[in-house]
Order: sequence, then structure tokens, then C-alpha cells
Amino acid sequence: MFDFHKILGYFYNDLAIDLGTANIVIIRDDKIIVEEPSIISFDDNGRILAVGNEALLMNGKTHKNINVVKPLKDGVIADFKAAGQMIDAFIKGARNDHFLPFKSFLNNVVIGVPSGITDVERRAVKDFADSLGASNTYTIYEPVASIIGAGIDVFDCNASMIVDIGGGTTEIAIIILGGMVCYKSIKVAGNQFTHDIINYLQRNYGVLVGENTAENIKKNTNVVDCDQLEEMEGISICGRDTLSGIPKEVCISYDDVASALNDSICLVETAILDTLKVAPPEISSDLNKNGIILSGGGSLLRNLDKRIEEKTKLKVRISDDPLRGVARGIGKVIKNMNLYKGILMR
Ligand SMILES: Nc1ncnc2c1ncn2[C@@H]1O[C@H](COP(=O)(O)OP(=O)(O)OP(=O)(O)O)[C@@H](O)[C@H]1O
Ligand SMILES: [Mg+2]
Repeated sequence: MFDFHKILGYFYNDLAIDLGTANIVIIRDDKIIVEEPSIISFDDNGRILAVGNEALLMNGKTHKNINVVKPLKDGVIADFKAAGQMIDAFIKGARNDHFLPFKSFLNNVVIGVPSGITDVERRAVKDFADSLGASNTYTIYEPVASIIGAGIDVFDCNASMIVDIGGGTTEIAIIILGGMVCYKSIKVAGNQFTHDIINYLQRNYGVLVGENTAENIKKNTNVVDCDQLEEMEGISICGRDTLSGIPKEVCISYDDVASALNDSICLVETAILDTLKVAPPEISSDLNKNGIILSGGGSLLRNLDKRIEEKTKLKVRISDDPLRGVARGIGKVIKNMNLYKGILMR
């Protein structure tokens, strides 16, 4: 039979967007159509040179005629124009690969925002969403999207706790009956961890490395607690000698990385404990039963779950797809707009 809605579906499209400080994920109809680092580069005339992965390769390797921009800072849009150009470029790329409709056929666009966002900052995200040309645009708090992405029923009267450690912010929230009972957003997350490694190497080895190198060290060693790891060989890294300026290779241990990250991890743990302290006592038994869900790229740090478990005495589990949890959650919301409309913000 002629299915009018199905035909219409080919033309009207909904996009779920996680506009992250480190990564952008866009989902349409359960499919990931964009998954790229949030970065764009321009030449000295303001023309776009590269976006996403390609632009990331230029990070820290530019000369005066190339400008590399990260348009998102701490989860919010810091450079409105560059963010627009970046998303436009991603959507143009996706249009070829995924038969994405032109602007005028976009129906619902939902973008995640950090729980600690100010009204002005959220307005900017909303204006940005409107500029994509969709008929309806909404924002949703990222921890709520993250919980939905982890497969939890947000409307349940049993509370769930999420800790989403992204690039710019760590979002901690306790969610029940479709809303956040308490939440905390701190600007300590993956980017800070990377800078901790840069500072540590400078202080302890007299070697200066760039962001991309420190990011690779973090992801390759991937460790916050060596106690539970077998003895492992160190890794060799190369940077600039802080005194002579000559390239210098040093061998660092996993313990070094764990020590570099320790202060920031302590801040994340304290923020989790602070959130638990203000939670209504009535939901303590729910949290005791359900534990904490860890999400976001930062949750991939090995043994972080064990550390948080030890600190809070609660069960901690890492969500199935931590880098895409927010986008997957928004994707579910967009497929069931009638059910979730109440938790979206216009
Ligand atoms: N295997 C890994 N080990 C450690 N950290 C990782 C790993 N993979 C990714 N990360 C870190 O996760 C962070 C990105 O996570 P994510 O994509 O969830 O952030 P985001 O959503 O872009 O940021 P935000 O939510 O703060 O706006 C980066 O700092 C990255 O270095
Ligand atoms: Mg995020």
C-alpha cells in the first residue's frame, strides 16, 4: 500500500547533534552520519582548508597563514561563525554519503547542551540550531541524553546517576522521573587531562610536547591507576628540550601518566561526592542498587571505574558506547518525540 509517511520520511529529516568540545557526532535515523573532531582550519583569507580529522592533523603544526580553530570551549560555542562553517562542511560531506536533505527539508534538530550552561549560552546554541534551517529546533541537557543513550528509562521513579567525562566538561547528574534532581558540571575533563600530561612532562622531564602528542600519550597509556596493572614497559616520546630547544626523546612510565592525571581525577571524584551529598536521602537506596554509569571519552581511562567505585562504594559501569552516548540518546528522543517532548527545551 502507498505509505505516505514513509515517502515523506525520505524528504523530511531529523538530526540528533552532540556538539562536543572534542568531537561532533550527528545521527540521522539511527545512523551515524558525522563523527569527527570539533576542529576547523582556515587560510589567511578565511577560506576553509580542512575540517575534522584533516584539520586535527594540522593542530600545532601551522604557520602564520594557517589558523586552526576549535569552535567549542567547555561544551559551549566559543566561536559562533567557525562552528557554523564547521557543521555546514560536515553536513555537506554527509549529504553526499547519506543522501541527506537540503536545509529546507530538515524537520527536527535536537542539540545536547551541558547541564551547567547559562541561559545566554543556551540561547546561542539554539540560535545556532535555528541557523541550520530546520522547522523545529530543541536543546536537551547532555546528562539526560546520556542516560537515555545508556538504555535507562529516564521517566522511571528509580533514580540513576550518570558521570559523563567529555573533552571540556565532566557532567554529573542524578536523574529521576524525567528530570535532574541534582547535577554538577565541572570544567575538568579530557582536555585538562591532556594538559596535565604536557605540564608533567615539562616539569619532570624538561621536555615540551604539543597537544596532539600528549593526547596520543593519554590514549595509548590510558591509565589512571597503576596498582591494578601488570608491570608494563614505558613508552618513548619525543618533544622539545625546554632548555636547548633540541628535539629530545625520553622514556616515560605508566606511573608517570597516572601521576600526571591524579589531581584532575581527584577533582572529578570530589565533584561526584559533592553531587551525592546534595541528593535527597529518599533516593539513596536507588543509587545503592543502580550504581553509577560512566560515559564520555574520559570514561575510557583504564581503572577509572574501579577508582570511582572505591571512592563512592557504589557499583560503576561504563556505558556501551561512551563516545556516542549523548548522540545515541538524542537519536532515541527524536524517534519518540511525543514521549520525550517534555524534557526538550525550545
Ligand atoms: N581511549 C581513551 N582514553 C582516554 N581518553 C580518551 C580516549 N578516547 C577518547 N578520550 C578522550 O575523551 C575526550 C572526548 O570525549 P567526548 O567525545 O565524550 O567529549 P565531547 O563530548 O566532545 O566533550 P564535552 O562533552 O566536554 O563537550 C577527549 O579528551 C579524548 O582525549
Ligand atoms: Mg560530550
